[in-house]
Amino acid sequence: MEFDLFGLIISFSDALDNIENEFVGIRKDHAKRVCWLSLLMGKKASFTREQLYDLAFLALMHDNGLTMANNEEPDLLKHGLDPKGIHCRIGEENVQKFPLMAKEEDGILLYHHERADGLGPFKKKENEIPLMAKIIHVADFADNSVSLGKNSSKANYLSMLPYVNKEAGRNFSPEAAELFRKAIGLKELFYLSNKDIHQEIRKIMPQESVDISNKELKDIATVFGNIVDSKSPFTKTHSAGIADKAVKMGQYYGWDLDTRYALFFAGSLHDIGKMLIPNSILEKPGKLTSEEYERMKLHVYYTFQMLKDVEGLQTINSWASNHHERLDGSGYPWGKTAEQLGTMERLLACMDVYQALREDRPYRKGLSHQTSISLMEDMAENGKLDRDIIADINKVFAIEKI
Ligand SMILES: [Fe+2]
Ligand SMILES: [Fe+2]
Ligand SMILES: [Fe+2]
Ligand SMILES: [Fe+2]
Repeated sequence: MEFDLFGLIISFSDALDNIENEFVGIRKDHAKRVCWLSLLMGKKASFTREQLYDLAFLALMHDNGLTMANNEEPDLLKHGLDPKGIHCRIGEENVQKFPLMAKEEDGILLYHHERADGLGPFKKKENEIPLMAKIIHVADFADNSVSLGKNSSKANYLSMLPYVNKEAGRNFSPEAAELFRKAIGLKELFYLSNKDIHQEIRKIMPQESVDISNKELKDIATVFGNIVDSKSPFTKTHSAGIADKAVKMGQYYGWDLDTRYALFFAGSLHDIGKMLIPNSILEKPGKLTSEEYERMKLHVYYTFQMLKDVEGLQTINSWASNHHERLDGSGYPWGKTAEQLGTMERLLACMDVYQALREDRPYRKGLSHQTSISLMEDMAENGKLDRDIIADINKVFAIEKI
């Protein structure tokens, strides 16, 4: 499949930022600012175009391991501390599955919190840390120095420079601090506080579609799905379950391989917008208030928004972001009706309901296959879901006895 993977990563970084905002108060666009600062430093270091691509990609994804790390070490996000670098290790494992361009050195996200004084999570020495890791580390902390908390005045941005100077040789590698000094001046700090940073990144890394093999697509989709699922223990297998089950349905229908991989991708991404919904709502044990329910419903609109400008993902977006629409027009966010909902949209809507019914929720245990199908048949009876697809789901998954 051909699409703008980098564009998807930019969108995804908003969702990652949102999670850090929810837990540790990081400010909107943090990952994009880290990306842009890193790019400017990489250019000063005369990186090739391929190296700049990798650096930008890794900077946007620098904290992609946080939610999964929080599942390994509960309360990690609550305290905002990770002395063992669990999120660094998981984040590194995740990005290893992405197709990078230059990819000359591993360990860039693994070591993105290593310190020049050797007191980082893995106690690495200056010469053991890849330059890209040192660059992202400086950019990350420099931005945190102004973006943690609420104070983000222009004066605060200007404080980045003395902060980097002060930490050079302690927290920051002298080499990376020097690159920061050379690359980031008053003009850049002014840009950082005023300009649309997305556009500034795009000036250096223009929109470009890349050809992703089915194997790579599956790996990428799995990482995204796992990150989304790991936000809450109640959804820990939700996207992955839908992606797998959608592929099984595709097999049953005899659809070709490319279509099945595309379905896997759509299933993995369908609830990506849930990363923008606070866990206080996602995990609420009781009934949601009407205000909370309206907020919850927005997740699918966020999925749509995150995918809509990614070149090459329009079809996937339609499959993914219509999963709460209902044939009788009672769904959300658009209230589409049967004529506007194709087979894939209907299939993912059915898979979403089926998977959700089978899973534990804060207020009930997971239901059996038969009970789930009966409830879905009632929904079909009421004009909500596609009756034929439910019959097919019944055939495919009753056999598996899952
Ligand atoms: Fe980090
Ligand atoms: Fe960060
Ligand atoms: Fe959903
Ligand atoms: Fe879902």
